[in-house]
Amino acid sequence: MSDIKFKRHRRLRRTANMRALIRENVVRKEDFIYPIFVVEGENIRKEVPSMPGVFHVSLDNLSEEMKKLEDNGILAVIVFGVPDHKDDCGSEAYAREGIVQKAIRHIKSNHPSLTVVADTCLCQYTDHGHCGVIEDGVILNDPSLELLTKTAVSQAEAGADIIAPSNMMDGFTAAIREGLDEAGYTDIPIMSYAVKYASAFYGPFRDAAHSSPSFGDRKTYQMDPANRLEALREAHSDVEEGADFLIVKPSLSYLDIMREVKDETGVPVVAYNVSGEYAMIKAAAEKGWIDEREVVMEKLTSMKRAGADLIITYFAIDAAQWIDEAN
Ligand code: PBG
Ligand code: ZN
Repeated sequence: MSDIKFKRHRRLRRTANMRALIRENVVRKEDFIYPIFVVEGENIRKEVPSMPGVFHVSLDNLSEEMKKLEDNGILAVIVFGVPDHKDDCGSEAYAREGIVQKAIRHIKSNHPSLTVVADTCLCQYTDHGHCGVIEDGVILNDPSLELLTKTAVSQAEAGADIIAPSNMMDGFTAAIREGLDEAGYTDIPIMSYAVKYASAFYGPFRDAAHSSPSFGDRKTYQMDPANRLEALREAHSDVEEGADFLIVKPSLSYLDIMREVKDETGVPVVAYNVSGEYAMIKAAAEKGWIDEREVVMEKLTSMKRAGADLIITYFAIDAAQWIDEAN
């Protein structure tokens, strides 16, 4: 035995302390951005059926949710609006009294320490459910940019700290950057959904946001899951257009892409741990087939290991509590 040469990797795994000493990646509460769905009306706190633990809340119940974030040391929230009225050009998306604008003002005046990220898209607000303007069944690129820019500026006016455009039109970063700058918001960063795949993992979100397309799909603007080099082209063009953060979405089936985007651009990368990824874990945990806490922390750690600086996740509050308990 003694003349066989081999490496003893297990030396560094012997005790919990030893493992902690050599740990390469950790998930921090400061990494989290928590998504919320805000609805019109009063006294609403309604669970989304396919996303147990995620709620539609009305403005009067928003503070309670925001307090949970503050109490658990979470720094940022991303706001999604579910409006009462939809039309063909998504006008509620950029209305001064739109649901998201009201929610942003509410959060910024009652919880000023929270960083508010505004999702900038039209699909929750259009009657056809697409992320841009439609003519004869075609999603038009450049006319969509005007409305998206208006939406971003209205969100900045309401007090958003970060603008996060999720629409996947070409040139949205350049258009929104220019619009924000012209309106005087040169200091508001853009967190671009630069690499967003046409994914089946968005199903529960579309139930939650009432944003399924009424015809066709999003494959003419969101990316083909088969493509890697195209993701790098998308990432590079957004950096050139002025993106301050790059989102890769979904996260778990795209960790390879996350790593490459990080290494190739050096820009802060954000993993979007999407609704379908959340729902799968919740469902399996409910059946007692997996240990939710262990699985969630393993998944979040894998995103950090893949290069994510930040993680948008519906697990943020639970994970923050687990991180506290572990320390
Ligand atoms: C829409 C949008 C989507 C998500 C956030 N904003 C997906 C889509 O319908 O294309 C997905 C979030 C999730 O699944 O958790 N622009
Ligand atoms: Zn959209």
